[in-house]
Amino acid sequence: MCGIVGYIGKKEAYPIILEGLKRLEYRGYDSAGIALYDGENLKLSKTKGKVSDLENKITKDKQLTNGNVGIGHTRWATHGVPNDVNSHPHYSNSGELVIIHNGIIENYASIKKELINRGYTFSSDTDTEVLINLIEDVKKNENVKLGKAVQIALNQVIGAYAIAVFDKNKPDEIVVAKLGSPLAIGVGEDEFFIASDATPFLEYTKKAIYLEDEEMAIVRLKKGVKIRKIKDDSLVAPYIQELQLNLEQIVKGGYDHFMLKEIHEQPEAIKDTYRGRLNVKEGLIRMAGIDDNLERILNANRIIVIACGTSWHAGLVAEYIFEDLARIPVEVEYASEFRYRNPVITEKDVVIAISQSGETADTLAAIKLAKSKGAFVFGVCNVVGSSIARETHAGAYTHAGPEIGVASTKAFTTQITVLTLIALKLAKEKGTISKSVFQHHLQELELIPGKVEKALLQDEHIKTVAETYKDAKNCLYLGRGYNFPVALEGALKLKEISYIHAEGYPAAEMKHGPIALIDEQMPVFVIATKKGHYEKVVSNIQEIKSRKGKIIGIVTEGDEDVKHLADHVIEVPDTIESLTPLLTTIPLQLLSYHIAVMLDKNVDQPRNLAKSVTVE
Ligand code: G6P
Repeated sequence: MCGIVGYIGKKEAYPIILEGLKRLEYRGYDSAGIALYDGENLKLSKTKGKVSDLENKITKDKQLTNGNVGIGHTRWATHGVPNDVNSHPHYSNSGELVIIHNGIIENYASIKKELINRGYTFSSDTDTEVLINLIEDVKKNENVKLGKAVQIALNQVIGAYAIAVFDKNKPDEIVVAKLGSPLAIGVGEDEFFIASDATPFLEYTKKAIYLEDEEMAIVRLKKGVKIRKIKDDSLVAPYIQELQLNLEQIVKGGYDHFMLKEIHEQPEAIKDTYRGRLNVKEGLIRMAGIDDNLERILNANRIIVIACGTSWHAGLVAEYIFEDLARIPVEVEYASEFRYRNPVITEKDVVIAISQSGETADTLAAIKLAKSKGAFVFGVCNVVGSSIARETHAGAYTHAGPEIGVASTKAFTTQITVLTLIALKLAKEKGTISKSVFQHHLQELELIPGKVEKALLQDEHIKTVAETYKDAKNCLYLGRGYNFPVALEGALKLKEISYIHAEGYPAAEMKHGPIALIDEQMPVFVIATKKGHYEKVVSNIQEIKSRKGKIIGIVTEGDEDVKHLADHVIEVPDTIESLTPLLTTIPLQLLSYHIAVMLDKNVDQPRNLAKSVTVE
């Protein structure tokens, strides 16, 4: 969490940093700050609130915004409540050094104690202020330059970080370092950009260096970027990548919110996911990451899926597909549980790690654990070049394009698409499905983008349903089989952006508890598509109805039975059972979106959440 931005060059740094912070606000938005150096003075402005609050404050106070070098931060609080003082950047005691930090310094308390004994004082509750004073202490005591001081200090800390440090005595350089949190350096003509991802510098340069863990870099105006290993000081040759991202991909493009844009992008995103991989005519699926490791994956004793949040729900859908089609046993684990519960993992296990951002700290740690036990780890990520993409043995990108709304939408459906392709490929290789069933799946998968488009046409109708239930205090989501994870995801979407309590449950499990909650106040969203235990779900609907619950059925086009029982129905096109999640998810995303808008919530930046969770 937290977004960091920096600039050093000939341009005015302020507008670049401010705009960069706005683009990184998905990473955290409870406070923001900027430090600028104007050739003489190091000026700092920070505030609780969003980047727009910072901008207003700077304008209102008529603060000077000139300077060709600076750093900025948008925060998701870990140590210390969100307030002006705890906001970044943080000065060192001398006021000469300034830092921004994304991550957590776990042993900050003991370092702080030592520094206090040596006369340092602290104004904030943050671990970051401790780090900058440790750097200052090392710099003075060892009489070294900033880069060396940062290196020595980082060898004393435990934790995770992406940092940028500026010293007003060395104004031609910014020192950056990374462990566990992402850090990209944009390389321009006589100018450099620093950011948590490449979006802040896309219009200036398409050349980027992604630092690896345990690397630091001195970004110096005339001399360029010098990268070293933090531990052993060895030099690393910078690897400059050409970015494929476009600016258009990261703007709202006429939509009110990124989330709505991303919901509507799903037909194209799903197409982009299978493009070049799915060949219906030839009856083929090509995926380099699978093809190159086929034996290893086919001989797996089991597949363990690790993920968090929405990606974990995609993993649950995968469990159904893999077991159903490829007959490989699957376990789906929360990465945060897996990493700490001493799991039994062998060299015969294949781990699939799913992550939109590719930066989720728990997923990353779980991958490292699985690797250390000899498992083969396959990544399903959206962000190209992300830490998880690099940490895994092989992988497949979802190609969904940047997802900026904090509530995940197109990442989910494209993850399911990738996982479906993998399951089908393995099923074909293992011979667990017939040629004709395989071919039928390919044909149906190719039809999905068109069907998602059709499902999106229900938008106006869904708005009226949202209007009816927007004041509910609790909601229940039910689904069976392939659509049980969709029920979980539907409930999560509502919770995340409208703050209405919602629970997802397997439809049949309802009678073991949640049924007690049902009365005339309780909207129950039931996924009741024709394919997949339809009659049984209809019986569950009867049970809700006889307890006066309000029923909103997500049904297959033309359905009559549920229509008679439900208060509302929302139709989705028909498809084969394994692909229904790609369609039933759509109305649930739109429903949450409209409810949140009607309740005047901040859809793209819901309270307390962040898009990329780079802390435990
Ligand atoms: C956060 C986001 C969720 C996301 C989860 C996992 O909680 O708000 O939308 O599903 O992290 O993120 P990942 O990037 O690993 O998929």
